[in-house]
Amino acid sequence: MTARLVVLISGNGSNLQAILDACAENRLSAMVVAVISNRPDAYGLTRARNAGVPALSFPKRPDESRQEYDARLAELVAGFQPDYVVLAGWMRLLSSVFLNAFPNRVINLHPALPGAFPGTHAIERAYAAWQAGQVDRSGVMVHLVPDEGVDNGPVLASEEIFFQPGETLEAFEARVHALEHRLLVETLQRLTSA
Ligand code: GRF
Repeated sequence: MTARLVVLISGNGSNLQAILDACAENRLSAMVVAVISNRPDAYGLTRARNAGVPALSFPKRPDESRQEYDARLAELVAGFQPDYVVLAGWMRLLSSVFLNAFPNRVINLHPALPGAFPGTHAIERAYAAWQAGQVDRSGVMVHLVPDEGVDNGPVLASEEIFFQPGETLEAFEARVHALEHRLLVETLQRLTSA
């Protein structure tokens, strides 16, 4: 059975692209049934359209609460009957109003190791910690999102990246994104073929 994925994005969508490519090349037994962005200008929406996947811009209304938005988002996502909801560069914290609608089915990608650097700018913060001699490695993890905890749900996969002497932030970030693209697809393949 081909797993149905709804992918939530907020920006470039390079991780979405990794999923779309894997599906198209039969490296992932799944299909992206919808891509939803809270930001109308997210390039990931263009990536979805180029792949023939429904691409929906779904911004929060200024006058609505976080819970009201999440309830509308949950209704929209549920309409696509996803097996998994994949947060790939999704930059909003989701409340339990949304999460409770998809128990054990919301998956997040975070560019840091479990327990390290939760929240935004994790790549830059890890790099700064290395520069300060506090860490010698960082990494990437894929985890479930059972509750409103930030980047701290049950880990499905994680992999370390050791910093290289003299490495620039840009070079390190490129290695992180390459690992994200691989680890996310591998994890989804494991989940969807189980
Ligand atoms: C990625 O590092 C992702 O983990 C983070 O946002 C970055 C952008 O990802 N949350 P993408 O290119 O939009 O997939």
